[in-house]
Amino acid sequence: MDSFRVGIVGCGTVGGGVVELLLENGETIESRIGRKIEIAFVVDRDTEKPKKLGIPAEKIFADAFKALDVECDAVVELVGGTTFAKEIVKTAIKRKRHVVTANKALLADYGEEIFKLAKENGVSVKFEASVGGGIPVIKAVREGLVGNRIKAIYGIINGTANFILTEMSQRGISFEEALREAQEKGYAEADPSLDVDGYDAAHKIAILSSLAFCRWIRTEEVFVDGIRDLTPLDVEIAKEEFGYAVKLLAISKVSGGEVEVRVHPTMIPEENILSSVNDVFNACLVEGDFVGRTLYYGKGAGRRPTASAVVSDIVDLALGNTFSVPECLFKENREIKLKKPNEF
Ligand code: NDP
Ligand code: HSE
Repeated sequence: MDSFRVGIVGCGTVGGGVVELLLENGETIESRIGRKIEIAFVVDRDTEKPKKLGIPAEKIFADAFKALDVECDAVVELVGGTTFAKEIVKTAIKRKRHVVTANKALLADYGEEIFKLAKENGVSVKFEASVGGGIPVIKAVREGLVGNRIKAIYGIINGTANFILTEMSQRGISFEEALREAQEKGYAEADPSLDVDGYDAAHKIAILSSLAFCRWIRTEEVFVDGIRDLTPLDVEIAKEEFGYAVKLLAISKVSGGEVEVRVHPTMIPEENILSSVNDVFNACLVEGDFVGRTLYYGKGAGRRPTASAVVSDIVDLALGNTFSVPECLFKENREIKLKKPNEF
């Protein structure tokens, strides 16, 4: 069988990790799926980044739109942001390339438009890395639990916020110092206020909830409160005096035919399994009507875990699994109503 050819746009934390993974584990992947994944091109405005990873000069571009002239099967968007990234994704789709992205902000804000465009062009947009870093929670909700009506999702789905809360609790270091460490480790967004003010978690729960409840849920429909104002003392008192861990929790649940979606710091009792999800780890508890409660756990951010999720999408496409979002999202869903954030 021919190679499956991918073009990678953005060679930073995640894009660099994807290049490394495909170079290091390419043979293992080929032996498993019976098809070679070939890097057709790598784009970054700093062309030294892909060069240092061993990509030959003729495959390196500073201009993504020029790179799109190179023949490939899928374009992997890993630049982040919603302006340039949106243009690249839409251009790739119009040129009939599948797309893989880790960009939750883009999908939460423009998912409806992007998935519709992909459907019209007969290509797929895959986005496993957009929620939960290395944890295959998108696949679980979209495919593994497809036979269930989803009742609720409870997630610790921002690695940076969880890292900061853990560091404040266990080492007593300040919010600012913990955030700096998270940035150094490559966990935080380019604009870290998305992490600490809860919007990154809101993007992610909007995506998961849209898949789970078959109704587009936009970021502005999510109630959001972040962790910026929490101090090491708050976290210590919650733990030492009351036995609670403070976590930034994303919640999405149905009751009485209405779904409510929210993100906020939550006091979690010690006996609840989510209270022991620490450091950059994420966990997502998803409850279905037949399966009951299921739990997904792993590193929620960082170069290698996120690259692992991106590559799982590339492999899915190479194997011909183009399932992207449920069909019902293209039809109006009158069954599920959304509670407005001010109605909770
Ligand atoms: P980085 O900033 O580390 O990487 C992005 C890279 O793309 C940088 O090298 C950047 O260059 C380059 N770039 C940006 N704009 C352009 C452009 N117009 N043309 C060419 N190159 C460009 O980001 P991450 O890798 O951390 O994140 C990428 C995406 O993955 C984001 O959507 C993020 O939300 C998502 N994500 C990140 C995770 C993580 O743990 N970091 C986990 C899950 C998802 P420069 O540095 O010069 O701007
Ligand atoms: N900034 C994000 C986080 C990256 O910390 O969870 C993973 O999506």
